[in-house]
Amino acid sequence: MVKTFNINNPEETIMLGEKLGNVLENGDVVLLLGDLSAGKTTFTKGIGKALGVTRIINSPTFTIVKSYKGTKATLYHLDLYRLDGLNNDFDLYEYIETDGVCVIEWPYQVEELLPKEYILVNIIRTYSEKRTIEIKAIGDKYIKKVEAL
Ligand SMILES: Nc1ncnc2c1ncn2[C@@H]1O[C@H](COP(=O)(O)OP(=O)(O)O)[C@@H](O)[C@H]1O
Ligand SMILES: [Mg+2]
Repeated sequence: MVKTFNINNPEETIMLGEKLGNVLENGDVVLLLGDLSAGKTTFTKGIGKALGVTRIINSPTFTIVKSYKGTKATLYHLDLYRLDGLNNDFDLYEYIETDGVCVIEWPYQVEELLPKEYILVNIIRTYSEKRTIEIKAIGDKYIKKVEAL
């Protein structure tokens, strides 16, 4: 199950993130693909909004993970760009198996550790502020959620 959206500006990226956030529950995992500045963190802001996070969500590049307590769920926002292989004793499941929603930028840094099921969001820069955003359900768990978008 995959859905494709044509986006015209950052506000629309946030709105789509919010739409996805509205169908997410504790334990859900979202992987974000896209080049630097594609809009992964911007999309995460929308997810946070839906989860009732009021703190400003910004790039966690230097900390790897930031958590935000929302009124509906806790958001774990991971950015693995700077994770240097797996010799870091980084425990992904500490976050994935916690009661919360886990959103991961640069997930293929831990390809071997990824769960079997997840929502894959691919943000493709087309022109200026325009983006094509594909949202794909990997595994049965997420089919209905992506269908609902
Ligand atoms: N349609 C769009 N969606 C998201 N960001 C956009 C869009 N158009 C322009 N931008 C700009 O691109 C940058 C995206 O930054 P960010 O979300 O941090 O990207 P990433 O996390 O993928 O590196 C922001 O400065 C934002 O204002
Ligand atoms: Mg980012």
